[in-house]
Amino acid sequence: MENVVGAGKHPNPFNPGSPVDPSDFVGRMQELENFRQRLRQTVTGSLASMAIAGGYGVGKTSFLHKCTTIVEDLDALPIYFSLNEIDHLTRETLARMLMQRVKEKVQEEAILQRISGEVARALARIRITTGGIEVRLGEAEEEFPNLQSALRGAWNAIKKSKSAIVFLIDEAHVLERNRAELLLFLRAVLEQLQLERIPIMIIPAGKFTVSGPSGTGFSPLVRTFPQVTLENFTKEESMAFIIKKLQQAGVAISEGVVDKAHATSEGHPYVLTAYLWSAYTKMKDDEKEITLQHLSATDIEFATSILARFFSRFYDQVGRQSKAILTIMAKNAGGESSLSELVEILKKPNNELSPHLAKLVQDGAIARIDRGRYKLFHHLLGEYVKEKNK
Ligand SMILES: Nc1ncnc2c1ncn2[C@@H]1O[C@H](COP(=O)(O)OP(=O)(O)OP(=O)(O)O)[C@@H](O)[C@H]1O
Ligand SMILES: [Mg+2]
Repeated sequence: MENVVGAGKHPNPFNPGSPVDPSDFVGRMQELENFRQRLRQTVTGSLASMAIAGGYGVGKTSFLHKCTTIVEDLDALPIYFSLNEIDHLTRETLARMLMQRVKEKVQEEAILQRISGEVARALARIRITTGGIEVRLGEAEEEFPNLQSALRGAWNAIKKSKSAIVFLIDEAHVLERNRAELLLFLRAVLEQLQLERIPIMIIPAGKFTVSGPSGTGFSPLVRTFPQVTLENFTKEESMAFIIKKLQQAGVAISEGVVDKAHATSEGHPYVLTAYLWSAYTKMKDDEKEITLQHLSATDIEFATSILARFFSRFYDQVGRQSKAILTIMAKNAGGESSLSELVEILKKPNNELSPHLAKLVQDGAIARIDRGRYKLFHHLLGEYVKEKNK
């Protein structure tokens, strides 16, 4: 068929590989409201940060990007960056990174152009030595000994045009290494800033584990960074997601499509996006409606092929014992198993299997649903694992 502009299909509106554009963001109303309230509190000098937790592909980056627009709406300065692939983060390099990002952001912000030269010059003098944190901002006589005073200096430079500084730190799980040492450091910095009511907010997002529910020994952290966990979409969120995307493409939705897509994906944002992306590719050029047939055509290869890259981290990259555990769970109804069943089938003692289970939970492949009972995090992971064992 001839490829005429205006004819044929609208480009696939589903993009499983990238965070959603804030204008296409759906749901998470409570979580966003929570964020908005804490930001308002921060602006009035009562500092309130939070942490965003959630597994692979649940929408952490999308959430931070959405928060960025809220920050801008409230005339605050959003500073987004990722700690992806940074292993050797120390207090010094973290402090330097935060100040470096303030500097870059100030330079790119049009509204700050007038003062940006001055601020940039001041920020350029930040120096951190290895013997401890030595952050300099300004001339020698204005030397600031630590991160909080460097942040205070940055705040003083921009406070006429901004209501707060908000750091949105993606892939921040590295901050909880060594018993959350770096999170505790940031908490101490925020406490100092609170004394002077300097409105700075820090939002780390990642696959957090230890700062989890109170009573895990990190309650002071939970107070400074109360954790909001992003869960799978509800049915309503899945529906809003599908409608919004397909409307853009001028594609109608047949009865039953939303139900089936939500059930198959369990509302997992990445899985749902990938599922619809794939179903969309099954539509012919002249079709203007997505139907159950397109979804069924996708089902054949979805878990084993389309999601292979996503699932391989949970199975292909783990050890033999963990693979054996996942295989048993995949074969069971509901993807569930218990420690006692695993002990029996694998003929290994409790204390040998427990560390593997703990690691699988930590990596997000399985969830602990009850004492000694576990479940695959997604039923399609079961399909994938079964296929691997064929
Ligand atoms: N609230 C939302 N509205 C619409 N789409 C969303 C939303 N949240 C996530 N998505 C979609 O789900 C997919 C995964 O989202 P995202 O990349 O933000 O997740 P993540 O938790 O940061 O993943 P990772 O663990 O890989 O970093 C993307 O395709 C994104 O477009
Ligand atoms: Mg992400």
